[in-house]
This record gives sequence, C-alpha cells and structure tokens, in this order.
Amino acid sequence: MTQPLLKLIDINKSFGTTDVLTDINLEVFPGEVLCLLGDNGAGKSTVIKVLSGFHEPTSGQVEVNGEPTVFKSPRDASEVGIATVHQFGGTFPLMTIGRSFFVGAEPLKGWGPFKRLDTRFAGEVAVREMQSLGITRITEGSRLVGGLSGGERQALAIGRAVYFGANVLILDEPTAALGVKEAAHVLRIIMQARQKGVAVILVTHNVTHAMTVGDHFAVLIRGVIADDFRKGERTREQITDLMAGGEAMAELEAEIEEYQRTHDGHVPAPGDLPANKSTA
Ligand SMILES: Nc1ncnc2c1ncn2[C@@H]1O[C@H](COP(=O)(O)OP(=O)(O)OP(=O)(O)O)[C@@H](O)[C@H]1O
Ligand SMILES: [Mg+2]
Repeated sequence: MTQPLLKLIDINKSFGTTDVLTDINLEVFPGEVLCLLGDNGAGKSTVIKVLSGFHEPTSGQVEVNGEPTVFKSPRDASEVGIATVHQFGGTFPLMTIGRSFFVGAEPLKGWGPFKRLDTRFAGEVAVREMQSLGITRITEGSRLVGGLSGGERQALAIGRAVYFGANVLILDEPTAALGVKEAAHVLRIIMQARQKGVAVILVTHNVTHAMTVGDHFAVLIRGVIADDFRKGERTREQITDLMAGGEAMAELEAEIEEYQRTHDGHVPAPGDLPANKSTA
C-alpha cells in the first residue's frame, strides 16, 4: 500500500483537566474515504480540529507524507493541502458566491492602489466549479451565499477545496442538515473527490451514508478509537451497535419487544414505555 498522506500517532488532547482524546492512531490514504463515526461528544470534531491546525494536540505526533509536522494554525494545515469544511458555519451569508469562493486567495485585477477583486472572474470560476459538481441551478456568481441551500453551500465549500488543490478534504457532518436528495448529492461529490485521488475524512452520524462512501472506518467512543476497520469487515448492525446510539436503539427495541410480549402483541402508545432510562 502507498504511504499515508496523514498519520496521527498517539494523539492526546485535553482541555484543562478534561481528556477529550486518548491515544488516537489513524492513517489517511490518498483516494480513500475515512469515515469517523461516534456519538455526540465522542471527540470527532476535536480529531478534525487537530488535523486542520485548529487545536494543537496535548501530546502525540502528526505526520504529513511521513514527515513529522506541527500545525501552529489552520493556515499551516491548509498550506500542506488540508481543506476543512467545519461542522458549524464556515460560510459568509452576506458574501457573494464568487467572493466567498476566493476568500483569502482573491484574484486581483488592476495595479498598485487600484488593485481589487476581479469579481467577474471570481464569480465565473465559482459557478463553473459548482456546476462541475452537479449544482446546475446556480448560474450567477453574484448571488449571496445566504440564499443557497445547505447542499449548495456544501458544494461551494467542497468545490473551493478541490479547486485550490486540496489533497485532504475534511468534512464534519456535511449531510446532517440536508434532505435526502441533497445528502445523496454531497455523497456523490465526495466520491468524485476520492476518484481524483483526494483523501477524504468524513464525519457522520449516519451509518448508511458512511457505508455508501467509506473505504475505512474508525469509531470513537469517549475519545478512544473503539474500532478501526475496512469496508466489508463489519455488518451494519455491528457498526450501529458500536456507536453509542446503537446501544440506545437496541435498548429501545428490547423495550418495545418486551411490551409487545406482555401486551398481546400491541405496540406501545406514547407514555407506555419507561422514559429517560438511559443516563445520556
Ligand atoms: N474547547 C473545548 N473546551 C473544553 N471541552 C471541549 C472543547 N471542545 C470540545 N470539548 C469537549 O470534548 C468532547 C468532544 O467534543 P467534540 O466536539 O469533539 O465531539 P463530537 O464527536 O464532534 O460530537 P458531535 O457529534 O456532537 O459533533 C465534548 O465532551 C466537548 O464538550
Ligand atoms: Mg462534532
């Protein structure tokens, strides 16, 4: 197998006295989708923030192409080709599509004090890149980002990452707020990036989405990698059970079965099951 693009070796991260990540080891290969799974608060976004230069690990080593590397800031990570679409925000609702596509890397027109953003060029490139990802309804780069749908915003962010030559694309819950069609579209875009040899790290709660696009999976439970496997090595049930959400679902299913067994097969009505049994 080729050398990993990115490697995390024994990464620990604490905030004050709270240990959020414990001995995280992960490898990310070009042309592969790594799915990071786990329940709320498991530490997924924190792993992403270490990989994107947002947080420095408390201890441990990050390697890029086999070279030990320290990211002091998100800029350091983006300079080695790591592009991150964070879970919350990241886009600027009052910016035009063109401007937001080039934010931080503005194509300039004119000379000296007359230099300004070439808005026409920026808009054209942004629209072209979004269209190449299948977002064909957007034809005007001068539209505001605030008017885009969730899926269109994701496409804008992903298109931007691919355009600027990202070799690692990190997506934190890109499909969480999307409808079925839009989510499918974002998954398709992920497959396109993968086909271009980009390494993709996908954070998701959705086992179906993960199983659709993932090559490699890591399940985080309370800051520890509880399981790490490749496509086909686990069943859907095993993956769901591994995520703490799976335990909760199994518990609910058991309660429903028990209710049906003791109530002539009737399904429970609201209020018939014990509420808030779990401590989560
Ligand atoms: N800056 C911080 N200071 C203190 N604690 C933090 C900080 N960032 C995250 N945490 C804690 O670390 C744990 C993991 O958070 P993280 O955001 O990585 O979880 P997550 O797996 O992304 O969850 P979700 O699925 O809800 O997005 C949580 O308990 C959170 O409260
Ligand atoms: Mg998160």
